[in-house]
Amino acid sequence: MNNNTFVHKYIRSLISKDDITADMTAGNGNDTFLLAGLSKKVYAFDISKEAINNTLERIRGYDNVVLINDSHANVEKYIKEKVRLFIFNLGYLPGSDRSSITSADTTLEAFKKAYELLEENGYIVITFYLKQKGGLDEYYLLTDYINKNRFQITETYRQDKPFSPVTFIIRKISQAR
Ligand SMILES: C[S@@+](CC[C@H](N)C(=O)[O-])C[C@H]1O[C@@H](n2cnc3c(N)ncnc32)[C@H](O)[C@@H]1O
Repeated sequence: MNNNTFVHKYIRSLISKDDITADMTAGNGNDTFLLAGLSKKVYAFDISKEAINNTLERIRGYDNVVLINDSHANVEKYIKEKVRLFIFNLGYLPGSDRSSITSADTTLEAFKKAYELLEENGYIVITFYLKQKGGLDEYYLLTDYINKNRFQITETYRQDKPFSPVTFIIRKISQAR
């Protein structure tokens, strides 16, 4: 099972139709599509216009998705309510020229802001691609921050191969602040 399959299976048990969710890297819209079916409203960010267009195509028929063509580091400009679950599926847009790729500092900034916007017992689902450009730096920067702040990782998923992608499910609990 790859990481995306794991994430899609796992998050079904974490959200309901009353929940607000956010896809911080919309890409080709696969995660946004899943969230649109499971939650009340989905905010979906991507800096790439191509990704936003792909996501728009993917979610045709849903009217509960707010598409935002901006960096996830500006999340607080767009989300003014508490969120049950954020997904960060990092790296580059599959099928593209790989020029639009997440970067460690920006991802950390977005992660911090997302944690602030998260409701108690809400979740951040984050997948790192260690083999992609800057992927290891991103992984080390974020895991260092997560560990220093004693955030609760409720689940870790990776396949048993060197440098395979890593997914963390992080739950916001009051003691973690
Ligand atoms: C691995 S893809 C996401 C896949 C997507 N979730 C899906 O289901 O198809 C990563 C995406 O992150 C986007 N991205 C890179 N930097 C970003 C940023 N600062 N803010 C928002 N999106 C960004 C890229 O353009 C790319 O589309």
